[in-house]
Amino acid sequence: MDREIEHIPVLLNESIEYLITDKSGIYVDATLGLGGHSKKILDEIDNDGKLIGFEVDPKAILISSSKLDKFKQFTIIKNNFDKIKVELYGLGFNKIDGILYDLGTSNLELNDSERGFGFSSKGDLDMRMDPTLKNTAKNIINNYSLEKLISIFFKYGEERMSKQIAQAIAKEREKYTIDTTDKLAKIVSKFSNYKYRNKTLARIFQAIRIEVNNELNVLQKSLTEAINLLKTGGRLVVISYHSLEDRIVKNTIKEATTNCICPPELPVCVCNHKASLKKITHKIITPTLSEMKNNPQSRSAKLRVAEKI
Ligand SMILES: C[S@@+](CC[C@H](N)C(=O)[O-])C[C@H]1O[C@@H](n2cnc3c(N)ncnc32)[C@H](O)[C@@H]1O
Repeated sequence: MDREIEHIPVLLNESIEYLITDKSGIYVDATLGLGGHSKKILDEIDNDGKLIGFEVDPKAILISSSKLDKFKQFTIIKNNFDKIKVELYGLGFNKIDGILYDLGTSNLELNDSERGFGFSSKGDLDMRMDPTLKNTAKNIINNYSLEKLISIFFKYGEERMSKQIAQAIAKEREKYTIDTTDKLAKIVSKFSNYKYRNKTLARIFQAIRIEVNNELNVLQKSLTEAINLLKTGGRLVVISYHSLEDRIVKNTIKEATTNCICPPELPVCVCNHKASLKKITHKIITPTLSEMKNNPQSRSAKLRVAEKI
């Protein structure tokens, strides 16, 4: 396979073992990508099973559909996974047996310098997974207010030099348009010494990518809808790659596995909240050392699984 479009699926066996509880069930791959996890699901389910894959990146859709078209049980939805409820209802499914999220970007996106996800090669400051989105990294960097830039770098990049970096960007953009990854990287690089430079750059690029794709909000909305769609015994399986998305997954599962969510100072329950999930993985599952060695991109992966009750 072309090196550029190779994407090794992360925690493949573990995630699919947890996901499939009924070989004739209806499953959703919320993040189809290049179809690595979907292929395994399709190999595991039988002819009566169904798999619906969501994807917003047209290039990923082209590649995965050419790989998986031969499977009659497979349908692609070219839409954001935050539209899961309306899209599944549209297909006539109001209950599912399991859903998998393998969050973040694929190698197809990361390695395409033109799309500006990475800081190690020159490309347009774009960062849209879905090219129909209006917001781009270029718009954020050149048009957002100083305060908004500081807040994004701090909230989505957890970067302690957020203020200084945002100020430097605001100063530079008065002189020229910051429209490529290398121009941005040059400004950001001044705020850390050589040893930590890549970490600082990674935090700032992550923050911009999250803002462009509205990643945390769509994840929260989708998880809530997915939990409602699961049948009793159906599984929610999520692989996350950074602390912000993992926190959303962890807190969503925590709330859904708790009977009462009233503030602790209340003497009696007034919320009437009932748990809808039980945890299947009590400890986070992480890749084995050999998986990390074979696929360094899996290093930060965390797998959480819960089941509808
Ligand atoms: C880490 S990759 C998934 C890789 C896939 N599991 C595989 O084995 O090939 C994540 C994919 O999800 C897509 N994606 C991210 N957020 C999405 C969203 N909100 N809705 C639909 N697709 C999304 C990205 O475009 C990317 O292709």
